Amino acid sequence: MSLRGFIFCCLFAISIAQNETNNKLFPEDFLFGAATSAYQVEGAWNEDGKGENIWDRYTHTHPEIVVNNDNGDVACDSYHKYKEDVAMLKELGVDFYRFSLSWSRILPTGFVNKINLPGVTYYKNLIKELKDNGIEPLTTIFHWDLPQPLQDLGGWKSEFVVEAYVEYARLCFELFGDDVKYWLTFNEPKQICPIVSGILSPGIGEYICGHHILKAHARAWHIYDQEFRATQNGKVSITIDSNWQEPASDSDEDIAAAERSLQFTYGWYANAIYNSDYPEIMKTRIAERSLAEGFNRSRLPSFTDEEISYISGTFDFMGTNMYTSYLVEAMDEVPIGDPNYNYDLGVKTYQPDDWEACTAPWLRLTPWGIRKFLNWLKETYNNPAIIITENGVVDDGSTLEDDQRVRYYRDYLSNVRSAIEDGVNVIGYTAWSLMDNFEWQYGYTQKYGLFHVDFDDINRTRTPKTSVAYYKKVVETHCLVDTCEE
Ligand code: BGC
Repeated sequence: MSLRGFIFCCLFAISIAQNETNNKLFPEDFLFGAATSAYQVEGAWNEDGKGENIWDRYTHTHPEIVVNNDNGDVACDSYHKYKEDVAMLKELGVDFYRFSLSWSRILPTGFVNKINLPGVTYYKNLIKELKDNGIEPLTTIFHWDLPQPLQDLGGWKSEFVVEAYVEYARLCFELFGDDVKYWLTFNEPKQICPIVSGILSPGIGEYICGHHILKAHARAWHIYDQEFRATQNGKVSITIDSNWQEPASDSDEDIAAAERSLQFTYGWYANAIYNSDYPEIMKTRIAERSLAEGFNRSRLPSFTDEEISYISGTFDFMGTNMYTSYLVEAMDEVPIGDPNYNYDLGVKTYQPDDWEACTAPWLRLTPWGIRKFLNWLKETYNNPAIIITENGVVDDGSTLEDDQRVRYYRDYLSNVRSAIEDGVNVIGYTAWSLMDNFEWQYGYTQKYGLFHVDFDDINRTRTPKTSVAYYKKVVETHCLVDTCEE
């Protein structure tokens, strides 16, 4: 048997062994929630004074970037149907709802010079409806929908946008902080930067973008800490995402490649916040490669000592999104010449065909990966309190009997429970998503929802899928199987 064949067999054996669902109760104070984001569900793209954001602009001027030329103009129409959304959350019995604020709905120009009161009222109403139903808001300040006027000024490549973000974040704390106790400054910065800057200047622009986002996050956390914490007493963090990176073999090269991959994806943003500065491996590799390419300095910007200590520790919990895993091999020859993040990282990743697939090409079901990932977070970042802020699976929506989703949630949660036994401090879990919604470039063809949404119906009727009954039972009993042990 080849080495790779042997490894597959081992992985398969591990996954069989782990197929036994964990039958321990989740801790009593463990929090269960469900998530969405503004552009993906709200619709009402130009109603009541909302300004244009980059997704409005992209989808209107380049409809071909989205499958079926779809857009979020109406989406789930949550702007008008938020009470139905809250009723769905109530039916699930969840402790919290993770949703995001649309910057352009609150500040149509992106700047605090013009506050759009109907936008503010919308979020106040949503938050009130949640609180009246005993559901805690977990609010993301920025989930990818940058106001177009700020994109026109350079987007996240501009320091100017950091200033605009900081003012916006302060306003959010002022407006909603009496009721919102859990905040996320950014969703998945790693995904924001290539979209914004990768095409224009790969291997340079995305590092500048990331640098600015880290500074913006830290500024927002310090503002909360200094100006709001004493009276509002909430918690602020950021959501960073990564797939689990499993070495493709037990060779030193592949083991190092998998660790490098985690450091370049998760560590890029997490190290400065949960430890300090960028990961050493990123600093060294990018500096060496930049010099070999003829630059006089590293393409990765550096923080001053003052900035390093200012950013370090800017969290009150750790927000983490995780969906799947990849096998990682070291790249034999990494070309020098064209600045490129992937070359800086220098690994090959893939998912073997025998890992269970779903409708999304990048997502195969690897429940064992979340346990390994959580253990890695514990070891790498000194065991912070972790809220899994997204986890879920896609189908094509052809049936309400979403058995694969039920299995996905059961098996991933089983591994989360096992990670708690391993000593990982996981305090919450969020299902992505409360309902089917606008899945970015895939439009409405990829469905992540616990609730089905009929996008052909003007009423955007919501219907529970089979997974609602399962998740509801888990939330209520804190148990993944019929009967649990203490
Ligand atoms: C994003 C969501 C997205 C989900 C599924 C996450 O990366 O935060 O907005 O819908 O993944 O692709």
